[in-house]
Amino acid sequence: MRIESGDSSILSPLFYFIFLRIMQKPKHQYFREQLMAWFAQSHRPLPWKGEKDPYIIWLSEIILQQTRVEQGLPYFERFRQRYPEVQQLAEAPQDEVMKLWEGLGYYSRARNLHAAAQYITGELDGRFPDTYEGILRLKGVGPYTAAAIASFAFGLPYAVLDGNVFRVLSRFFGIHTPVDTTTGKKAFAQLAQELLDTKQPGNYNQAIMDFGATHCTPQSPACSTCPLRSACMALGEGQVGKLPIKSKKIKKRQRFFHYLVIGHQGKALLNKRTEKDIWQNLYEFPLLELPHLSRDEGEIRESQLWKQLVGAEEAVVSHISPPYQQLLTHQKIVASFWEVSLSPQAALNSGPFLAVDRKNLSTFAFPKIISQYLNQEQLTLF
Ligand code: ADE
Repeated sequence: MRIESGDSSILSPLFYFIFLRIMQKPKHQYFREQLMAWFAQSHRPLPWKGEKDPYIIWLSEIILQQTRVEQGLPYFERFRQRYPEVQQLAEAPQDEVMKLWEGLGYYSRARNLHAAAQYITGELDGRFPDTYEGILRLKGVGPYTAAAIASFAFGLPYAVLDGNVFRVLSRFFGIHTPVDTTTGKKAFAQLAQELLDTKQPGNYNQAIMDFGATHCTPQSPACSTCPLRSACMALGEGQVGKLPIKSKKIKKRQRFFHYLVIGHQGKALLNKRTEKDIWQNLYEFPLLELPHLSRDEGEIRESQLWKQLVGAEEAVVSHISPPYQQLLTHQKIVASFWEVSLSPQAALNSGPFLAVDRKNLSTFAFPKIISQYLNQEQLTLF
């Protein structure tokens, strides 16, 4: 086929495509080489670096989901010490695992971790899966965690993609596609995979995670000393603070919890949260949820919960705590604690609640908002 010099409809897209491919190669290579050179001289000692046991790597990665390294570290050490092998985790009582997880948040991670350990010992003969697909089948493991474990433990060529990676790539390549859309996720996943150093995928993945967490940070990235600065699109265009772009803002639902802290003969009543809701399998005081925050004793006394527990017995509300707040990803919880004294002679109808000795309260796993209350308030009821 002859291409006329004026036939730009064929020439220009083709030319543009080839031009882009040629230009891209050096940029990909530059990115990879600079990142790996930075990693070689960056010292971020983490206890799972160089670890080859997939079970230990998995443990660290589940703990680090949605969690900063500094916060996750002591939990990782505790879990590794208590359950050095998957069998020990599988055989542990669920309440014990939840207690060890207390304060770390996103409790479905702990439930899934425990269930997956039981699956590995029960169904896989105690052998940790050694393929990406096999790892992805474990409860609580998504593509990010599967890529991290597959590359760290088995040297498999899967690139990680998480908030750190979105940030680093969107800035360096000047990508304005929102990261929380299907198109955005696909484009970033493809780019991340193209950039992976397939000769050392584990080191490459750790490098980009560390770089995003310590250098190309969300609020104050160290651009002036950045090894990628000479080709960083966002820096060149003054867009660092704008990237990555998210299209949706999460709107948090507010919920108002009123906890009845009923002291009776040295005991407190507790409920185990079993419904499909936040804090599944954690413990709490008897809960009255209302569409608003109430300071009105009459309203509380009229509730079904009060009638069920206290009924006609003589009871005094001795203290109402100030409101405590806890932010979750999709919810804002506001809780106040109503301390209720009953006379020792009163007949407490504990119904489905557990009556727990005051001194044993600390052995139960509570949501953070309740631990905070227990740590801050002087419980004089019991
Ligand atoms: N976040 C998730 N996985 C991590 C890892 N392996 N190192 C540092 N931060 C992480």
